[in-house]
Amino acid sequence: MSSKTKYRFETQAVRTQSTQTGFREHSTPLYLTSSFTFETAEQGRDIFSGDEDGYLYSRFSNPSCDEFVDKMSVLEGAESGIATATGMAAIFVTFAALLEKGDHLIASKAIFGNSINIIQKILPKWGIEHTLVDIKKQETWEQAVQPNTKMLFYETPANPALDIVDMEQASELCKTHKIIHCVDNCFSTPYLQQPIKFGADLVIHSATKFIDGQGRVMGGAILGKSGLVEKTYEFLRRTGPSLSPFNAWVLSKSLETLAVRMDKHCDNAIQLAKHLENHSEISFVTYPFLDNFYQVDLAKKQMKSGGGIVSFDLSGGASRGSKFLNSLQMSSLTANLGDTRTIATHPASTTHSKITELERLEVGITPGLVRISAGLEHINDIIEDIEEAIHLSK
Ligand SMILES: Cc1ncc(COP(=O)(O)O)c(C=O)c1O
Repeated sequence: MSSKTKYRFETQAVRTQSTQTGFREHSTPLYLTSSFTFETAEQGRDIFSGDEDGYLYSRFSNPSCDEFVDKMSVLEGAESGIATATGMAAIFVTFAALLEKGDHLIASKAIFGNSINIIQKILPKWGIEHTLVDIKKQETWEQAVQPNTKMLFYETPANPALDIVDMEQASELCKTHKIIHCVDNCFSTPYLQQPIKFGADLVIHSATKFIDGQGRVMGGAILGKSGLVEKTYEFLRRTGPSLSPFNAWVLSKSLETLAVRMDKHCDNAIQLAKHLENHSEISFVTYPFLDNFYQVDLAKKQMKSGGGIVSFDLSGGASRGSKFLNSLQMSSLTANLGDTRTIATHPASTTHSKITELERLEVGITPGLVRISAGLEHINDIIEDIEEAIHLSK
């Protein structure tokens, strides 16, 4: 590791790297190997037993994965971390490693649909209870606390309505009741927001989104307090939802450009949001840094910039939403976000189609809600594409 804590965010993202090999390479090599050799039988024994440090087997130890994790830990201000195959693997490993039969989990209703699926369909099989709470009524979360409550889990900003959780308030709740405070920081990345600074114990990432930022590889990470991370490591080591060294190498390289990419995503997103703000065909636009966003002060306290996602409600409901998507010429219709390419999604007919209309409305998903992940194209091309589609979908 050549990282020094005195460096600033951008420098850490570029300069945190594995130890150079004897070839004196400048760019970190990819360690595409399933296992590592031992010089002697005794060394193998000692590395297995933990008496000697050393790489062993890539399900749980690999230099490419370590570089990615070390960099993510430095950027999030975390004591340690592990890398996982996907964001869902990070969420599942966190729950499975830290919750036990009889434990209770409090989670925000406004989280990614698959996270809800794990909580509602998988955890109950193991006797893990849950309560889903309203993100718009954070002052009521304490009422959900039970003697067996072990963890609080939420996203901020949340997908796709972009409501913000007051992380300091959530920390107080967790400290008072000795609850593990766990934040999915996928929408912000550590460049825009570092939940640990606001008291979170664990930060979870889908690195598939802005961290890769180019729509290429899947990945995830769990970062935070060493004692908790250690338990997730033991679980991952035994069960195997590990990040591939190749993906780790891609993701570590991607982190080198995270700051410049995020600045541009945020710049394009706010320009788009401002353009749509007073549009006659749009009932409302949501973007955390818009002056009239109901939580703008909280967003500005917690985030460096408003992020790359803009949501808006197209007058005309669900059918107008579908027509709008079909009228786009440039923006991509795809199930991802945080790409160089602008992506449009209609949550009611896609990501959130399996929940009821009432459940959708509870998390801010109106029938005409469109989510735009602002890419890195020229802003005028993004605006023109969306304008034209609004016009054609009338
Ligand atoms: C907020 C959030 N968390 C987690 C995930 C899951 O990540 P992955 O697709 O890498 O498993 C997603 C995916 O869309 C997401 O939006």
